[in-house]
Amino acid sequence: MMSMGSSDERSTELLHSQAHIWNQTLNFINSASLKCAVQLGIPDAIHRHGKPMTLDQLVAALSIKQAKAWSVYRLMRILLHSGFVVQEKVGDQDGYVLTPASRLLLKDEPLNARAFPLIMLDPIITQPWNILSDWFHNDESTAFDTTYGKSFWEYQADEPRLGNFFNEAMASDSRLVTEVLIKECKGVFEGLTSLVDVGGGTGTVSRAIAKTFPQLKCTVLDLPNVVAGLEGTENLKFVGGDMFKAIPPTNAILLKCVLHDWSDEESIKILKRCKEAIPSKGGKVIIIDMKVENNEKARDEESIETQLFFDMQMMILVTGRERTEKEWAKLFVDAGFSGYKITPILGLSGTSADDLDSVAAVVSSPPTMNSSAAINFCPSFSIVIQSEFS
Ligand SMILES: C[S@@+](CC[C@H](N)C(=O)[O-])C[C@H]1O[C@@H](n2cnc3c(N)ncnc32)[C@H](O)[C@@H]1O
Repeated sequence: MMSMGSSDERSTELLHSQAHIWNQTLNFINSASLKCAVQLGIPDAIHRHGKPMTLDQLVAALSIKQAKAWSVYRLMRILLHSGFVVQEKVGDQDGYVLTPASRLLLKDEPLNARAFPLIMLDPIITQPWNILSDWFHNDESTAFDTTYGKSFWEYQADEPRLGNFFNEAMASDSRLVTEVLIKECKGVFEGLTSLVDVGGGTGTVSRAIAKTFPQLKCTVLDLPNVVAGLEGTENLKFVGGDMFKAIPPTNAILLKCVLHDWSDEESIKILKRCKEAIPSKGGKVIIIDMKVENNEKARDEESIETQLFFDMQMMILVTGRERTEKEWAKLFVDAGFSGYKITPILGLSGTSADDLDSVAAVVSSPPTMNSSAAINFCPSFSIVIQSEFS
């Protein structure tokens, strides 16, 4: 017969297990609530108010019917729990105040990240999750292909609404990353005469680089439907093409958030095209992407989970994946590069003074190798890889 103690333990375990299943199952409510908050303009309303905003003031500012005030309160309770607002006293009432994360969702914030929740939670993007288990049994390369009968990139070419939305989300990420890149990694671009931004989207990163380095001739190479009608500047031009086929000859190449979209085989093909496009001496490939950390202890829970989420998203939408340093290294070697250097620039776990010190130290060391590949991992976890050709 079970002892009293072990029966209690069993009951506790059962209840905890059930709570865990409930919590994980309902996890989407965090993201759906975030999307709703952005759509309703809640961060903007609180920001415009200029001081802690009571529920009644928020409901009035959002022009929401009084009968739904209680529902706004419940939505705000989730946002409070997930760190998008905090509460401060206004007289004897509580008022909502923005946090650094919700300030990044403001329409007026030049580096705002509003497009990310809106596109990632768009039904076109979330639909493939509903057929994930079917996909495991079929021969399609992605669940996106299974759902729509075409690749993510083909879908964007056919449906400009998604294409424009995706390009805007990438541009918004690029604005934020570029701010850091130009500040922290200026040395990577110094001395270059030409740069091709391969899979450069609508050119947000290249525009900033071209402006910072007026002597540098920048070219954005992307699919014809992405660059159609985009206007360049004195030292920036747009070229429609296919990076698997040919990349224009250049001194240096930038690949930002590109290789994580592709399988190892495809990434090696792209890197080989890069290698053909740059001189074997003095050429450089600069890669900005994410590096998955192996050392679980070095990272906080949220950063581990975010990297896992990104990896799954790459699996669902495209043929790509997120890679550890070892996996990145293998790609470089297989593509014909002989060495590499990884420099952390930012990190979800890189918030301590020690981490920031080490960032400055690495970034200030000049890239002296003749041919190199640099990786600054985004979003928010960043490294630089340099790799010489063999
Ligand atoms: C994740 S986005 C990155 C965009 C940009 N580098 C950035 O970080 O903002 C990947 C880009 O690769 C482009 N792309 C996909 N297939 C391509 C191909 N075969 N040739 C050139 N570009 C391609 C897409 O159109 C898209 O703009």
